[in-house]
Amino acid sequence: MSASDNIPAKTFYLETFGCQMNVHDSEKVIGTLLHEGYIQVEEVEQAGLILYNTCSIRDKAEQKVFHRLADYKKLQKQGKRFGVLGCVAQQEGEKIFERAPYVSLVAGSASYRNLPHMLAKLEAGEQRITGLDDRNTDETFDTEFTARSNPYRGYITIIEGCDKFCAYCVVPYTRGKERSRTSDSVMAEAQRMADEGYTDIQLLGQNVNSYRDPSGKKSFAALLAAVGEVAGIRRVRFTTSHPRDFTKDIVDAIDAVPALCDHVHLPVQSGSNNVLKAMLREYTREEYLTKVGWVKAAKRDISMTTDMIVGFPGESEADFEESISLCREAGFDAVFAFKYSPRPNTPAINLADSIEEDEKSKRLAILMDRQRQIQAETYQRHLGQTLAAMVEGRNEARGQLVGRSSQNKTVNFSSRALIQPATGSYVNVLITKVTPNSLVGEMIA
Ligand code: SAH
Ligand code: SF4
Ligand code: F3S
Repeated sequence: MSASDNIPAKTFYLETFGCQMNVHDSEKVIGTLLHEGYIQVEEVEQAGLILYNTCSIRDKAEQKVFHRLADYKKLQKQGKRFGVLGCVAQQEGEKIFERAPYVSLVAGSASYRNLPHMLAKLEAGEQRITGLDDRNTDETFDTEFTARSNPYRGYITIIEGCDKFCAYCVVPYTRGKERSRTSDSVMAEAQRMADEGYTDIQLLGQNVNSYRDPSGKKSFAALLAAVGEVAGIRRVRFTTSHPRDFTKDIVDAIDAVPALCDHVHLPVQSGSNNVLKAMLREYTREEYLTKVGWVKAAKRDISMTTDMIVGFPGESEADFEESISLCREAGFDAVFAFKYSPRPNTPAINLADSIEEDEKSKRLAILMDRQRQIQAETYQRHLGQTLAAMVEGRNEARGQLVGRSSQNKTVNFSSRALIQPATGSYVNVLITKVTPNSLVGEMIA
């Protein structure tokens, strides 16, 4: 079967929305398609098959995919096929066929193992192919065909799904139940990456520290340490951690294993116990701050970052003030803050979305402004330090190199060396200036 305009049907275009899990799933989907004989193209116009790997975390993210589908509707007349993958696919299921009848494939992340089978159906001309899972899957999507987009830094998914059911969140419904890979399979992938020249590995999971080795061999902290001890691996990160499952042995592992990065992203969502309770987060402000205390007491200077939601139903001015005071108490190096967005299927959808949009915007702006002040102070500690940076590229406009520190901070630096350091290499940078979101310095020999 071939699409019109002489475009071979086995060409595909893939656009990814959402979190790192989606970015990495796309690398695995691309690898699978390439293995099935497909060719990836950079322009939708050149593709026989157009795929969107979608995100549903907030309403805006979900609407993006429907806008995209509407934009490209005219391309359907040229015989192109459309597929919706990821979290919106799992959430909306067959309803997508009604809203966008030219879509032929709707598949959630728990069905990607069956992609070759679904592609065969597509090639046979089937019109409505689905890969949906209602929290039944025990399997994970492991493939040797991952097409990683960066040759130095790569992801490994160690746990998929979520069993926490926080009141506001779609993830347990879009990604299925929690299931971990065996530590042996994770270690084999880390070793393979090291052999291929990767030096930086990021372990992924919606709640990465809820990892439970099905073979019972390694705890999350032990797995983290073991990946950090693979010869050739210089940096190991993990994202994203749930505070309830954040145990002290994780901090001890960071202290003990130099390759583990000195950065912990620990989303708190709110500083108010009333709101945390309504969110069904199952920890208190005090318990969260105890865990921050472990991190602050470490031998290494571990950077802490978090996520916050403002305007959750019933959040009072006083509750909101507690979120701000928590940011100050914890001294975060970054806060990713979002306005609460009511989501289908979630428990909170039954609560009145009581905070007006204007008020949510106002709280978001205040929180971000206060955090900017906090960061301006916390970043000062780096002045005069010499930090290792992994080179990521050049900023031609500024005539500077751009790198990343172990703490996950952007480092903009100049180099007087005759030969400029290569992308992916590690260099030492003397920090001479700090800005609210980056460090500035000079490379030293
Ligand atoms: N597993 C992580 C969160 C993953 S979702 C955790 O438990 O912390 C990424 C972030 O999106 C969340 O930390 C939260 O801040 C935000 N988020 C999730 N659902 C949201 C919603 N309905 N409205 C606004 N922000 C939301
Ligand atoms: Fe969503 Fe909560 Fe699961 Fe995080 S732990 S993915 S916020 S349900
Ligand atoms: Fe979005 Fe799904 Fe990730 S909802 S944030 S792509 S898990």
